[in-house]
Amino acid sequence: MPKLGEVYSKALITGAGSGLGKAFSEALIDNGIAVWGTSRNPETFEKEGILTGVELDLNKERDLPAWFEHWDDQAGGFDILINNAGYGSFADFADLPSQELENQIQILLQSPLLLAQTAVRRFRERKKGCVVNVSSVAGELWIPYFSIYNAAKAGLSVFSQSLMSENPDSSPWVVDFRPADYKTNFNRNTKIAPNQSTSVAAVWNRLVELLGKAPVPEKAAHDLLSAIGKFSHCTCYSGSFFQTKIAPLTSRLFPKSLKRAILRHYFRLPP
Ligand SMILES: NC(=O)c1ccc[n+]([C@@H]2O[C@H](COP(=O)([O-])OP(=O)(O)OC[C@H]3O[C@@H](n4cnc5c(N)ncnc54)[C@H](OP(=O)(O)O)[C@@H]3O)[C@@H](O)[C@H]2O)c1
Repeated sequence: MPKLGEVYSKALITGAGSGLGKAFSEALIDNGIAVWGTSRNPETFEKEGILTGVELDLNKERDLPAWFEHWDDQAGGFDILINNAGYGSFADFADLPSQELENQIQILLQSPLLLAQTAVRRFRERKKGCVVNVSSVAGELWIPYFSIYNAAKAGLSVFSQSLMSENPDSSPWVVDFRPADYKTNFNRNTKIAPNQSTSVAAVWNRLVELLGKAPVPEKAAHDLLSAIGKFSHCTCYSGSFFQTKIAPLTSRLFPKSLKRAILRHYFRLPP
C-alpha cells in the first residue's frame, strides 16, 4: 500500500482552526500533505502551524461551488476535501428559531453536499481524490434536544453511503467518518436555547460530563488518516470503544422504542 503523501498532495479542510479539524490538518501536514484550512478568522492560523488559512463562513457564503473552484485553482488542484466544519443547536425542537433550523441544515448538510459535488467533478477529471464527510454517531444514537443536528448528521452519512453505492470500485474515494465524543470546543460553540427546562438542562449537564472525559482529537486524526490511507470507500467509527463498537451494534438489535428508552436513560432523562 502506498503512503498517503505519495498519492495525495493537497487537502482542503473546513473548520480547521480548532478541535478535530485542527488535528486532521496537523496529521496531514505531518504526512507531507499541504493543507488549506478554512475558518471565519483564518488570521489566527499562522501561529497554529497550518499552511494556508482561508476565510469561509458557511452560513454566509452564497456561491460555494464557485468558492471551491477558485481555491482549487489557486492551490493547483486539491485531492482531498474534508467536510468538517459544524456546530450544534441545543434546544427543545419547538423552541428552536426557524432561522437557526435553516442555519443548521445549511452548515451541516447543504454546504458539505455542494462542496462534495464540486470536488467530485474535479477529482473525476483528475482520476484521483478523496472526499471525507465528518458525520457523527449522533446520526444513529440520537442525542435529545439536538434533533436537527442528529437529522443532518444522519443525512450526511446516508449521502456518503449513496455516493459509495453509485461508484463502488472507483475514486474519488468517499470516507463516511462518524466520530463519537471528542474533547474539543464543540460544547463551547453549541448554541443553547435560553430558559431551558429541567430536562434540557439535565441532558446538557450529561453532555458536558461526557465531553469532559472523551478522547483527544489526535485519536480521531489517527483513525481518519488510516481510513483515507485505505484508498477505497470507507465507513469509519472513531472514539471510545463503548460509543463506537458496543452502543451502535447493540442499538441495531433493539426495537426503536427500547432504543429510545435506553438513550433517554443514558442522557439522564426520566423513562
Ligand atoms: N467533538 C465531538 O464530540 C464530535 C462528535 C461527533 C462529530 N463531531 C463533528 O466534528 C466536526 C468538528 O467539530 P469539533 O468537535 O472539532 O468542534 P469545534 O472545535 O467547535 O470545531 C468546529 C469548527 O467548525 C467551524 N465552524 C463553525 N461554524 C462555522 C461556520 N458558520 N462557517 C464555517 N465554519 C464554521 C469552526 O471554525 P471557526 O470558528 O474557526 O470559523 C471550527 O473550526 C463537526 O462537524 C462536529 O459536528 C464532533
